[in-house]
Amino acid sequence: MSAQIIDGKAISTRIHTEVTQQVAARKAAGKSTPGLATILVGDDPASHTYVNSKHRACEEAGINSFGFTLGADTSQERLEGLIRELNQDERVHGILVQSPLPKGLDEQHALSMLSIEKDVDGFHPVNIGRLAQKGPEPLFVSCTPAGVMVLLNETLSSIEGKHAVVLGRSNIVGMPVALLLVRANATVTICHSRTQDLPAMARQADILVAAIGRAEMVRGDWIKPGATVIDVGINHVEDSSRKKGYRLVGDVAFEEASEVAGAITPVPGGVGPMTIAMLLRNTLKAAEMSDS
Ligand code: GUN
Repeated sequence: MSAQIIDGKAISTRIHTEVTQQVAARKAAGKSTPGLATILVGDDPASHTYVNSKHRACEEAGINSFGFTLGADTSQERLEGLIRELNQDERVHGILVQSPLPKGLDEQHALSMLSIEKDVDGFHPVNIGRLAQKGPEPLFVSCTPAGVMVLLNETLSSIEGKHAVVLGRSNIVGMPVALLLVRANATVTICHSRTQDLPAMARQADILVAAIGRAEMVRGDWIKPGATVIDVGINHVEDSSRKKGYRLVGDVAFEEASEVAGAITPVPGGVGPMTIAMLLRNTLKAAEMSDS
């Protein structure tokens, strides 16, 4: 059997187009141009690449973006002072603090300083807490987890009652994805580095979300026949035959897995492009919330 390939690139392109049209309509109606501020601290090359892509996507969608790049020796006070300024800045509807911050900075404390109305990454403890509880909805859901849910909803007629197994419990992906799956009425198992017999757990999954950060760790025989597999991993593997000297692979051994799965995301072109699409959508939502 050969799995259906879930085309995150095509789905994200559709969302980019929708956001671009809605931004243009706002401007034509005389409303404010949505604005995103990014805060990047230190020299992590991958983070610089991600943030540049976010700015480029904003520009293409007609969203203003404001980049703040701070040195690796930035103090907690300076970082939080900038967040306070941006919380007050009317041109800025969304604020994103690129993770990870350099060692010595308290990321959780910095995130707690964000105005929850501008927390387009959904990492503020109030937004995460609301995701975990019945009651008021989170104002924003983190972009990669939200993107995973869009892909699942596009692929499956229903998530309700399915057994979802999430490999990984990070703040950025594993835990919020698990919470979103619970909210969609799936039965959810969260696996992590201390889980015994990971392959046996994974084999129970109707929906398998791999977010462990280990290249091709999930093998074909970890997958229940017909399962839907969402691969969040982006790993660089040395490959001298490539111009760049590496190739990108996910956390799932794609060729093997696609022989068993019912549907699967590729890497690249699966979850990756969804993150920025959801960020654009959240930034537009932040601007709309500021209208009233
Ligand atoms: N680092 C890795 N992924 C993300 C993300 O989605 N948002 C932020 N702010 N940092 C990240």
